[in-house]
Amino acid sequence: MSGADTRVAVLGYGSIGRVVAARLLDGAIPGARLVAIVDQRPQADAPVPQTDLDDAIADSDVIVECAGQSVVAEHAERILAAGRDLLISSAGALVDPDLARRLRAGGPGRVLCTSGAIGGLDLLAAAADAAPFETVIVRTTKKPAALVQPWMDAERAAAIATASAPMTVFEGDAAEAARLFPRSLNVAAAVSFAVRDLDLVRVQLIAAPDADLTRHEITAAGPMGRYRFEIENLPSADNPRTSAVVPYAVLRSLATLLRRPALIG
Ligand SMILES: NC(=O)c1ccc[n+]([C@@H]2O[C@H](COP(=O)([O-])OP(=O)(O)OC[C@H]3O[C@@H](n4cnc5c(N)ncnc54)[C@H](O)[C@@H]3O)[C@@H](O)[C@H]2O)c1
Repeated sequence: MSGADTRVAVLGYGSIGRVVAARLLDGAIPGARLVAIVDQRPQADAPVPQTDLDDAIADSDVIVECAGQSVVAEHAERILAAGRDLLISSAGALVDPDLARRLRAGGPGRVLCTSGAIGGLDLLAAAADAAPFETVIVRTTKKPAALVQPWMDAERAAAIATASAPMTVFEGDAAEAARLFPRSLNVAAAVSFAVRDLDLVRVQLIAAPDADLTRHEITAAGPMGRYRFEIENLPSADNPRTSAVVPYAVLRSLATLLRRPALIG
């Protein structure tokens, strides 16, 4: 997709989608034109028409998903089948092997996951191209309130929300992490895709009351070397589960998908 005027629809007008939409309107990616917003809730201040997804698919070239894993699971295939490219923020959706297989086989639209809240995925992917990793660990530390989940019973939710010292909330593999913490562990999924081994990646999730920044520590070791990335992100003011940098990562990924320079900054 590299025409002079690429039509972009933003699916999910929340903390990520709002910044992506505003920056696109500001000309962050030359030649990329925001044409529609799709959201399940009415958005009175939408800067372009709010449409349903069918109309957005009909009227756009690229759909930028910033809505959640369930939206990817439900709609990605038909977006690709309509020949529209899909940029995914909710990478954790693809830990479902059936969905991942269907999307790989789907098209003709293309699918790309943003690197989102983290970096270093290119190096991890290159090392994995050379030889499989032996160990990969993703350790994420967030404010407790961002980690309480609807499936938790009241006692567990209260224990996390009121934790006065760092507390391990989850330890396990990346697929389970993405399933249990769908809005918090897209990062673990993205690392798993980079190293191409969902079962290898161990995930630890820690609730820390003093975690003003969201921290991701990624360590990986294999025949190509040892890698350690430590990322501390400012949470979004609108949504403490999301880092404020994510919409800018989405815009960079969109520029890559469109093969255009991003004039962001
Ligand atoms: N890759 C990463 O590093 C990373 C980081 C943070 C968030 N994310 C993903 O991005 C998603 C969005 O994050 P956010 O902070 O903008 O969330 P948000 O809750 O602020 O906004 C999500 C928006 O999507 C809308 N929405 C939800 N379900 C919908 C549906 N079925 N149809 C249409 N609209 C729907 C909501 O109404 C809301 O306006 C998260 O759920 C998460 O999966 C990824």
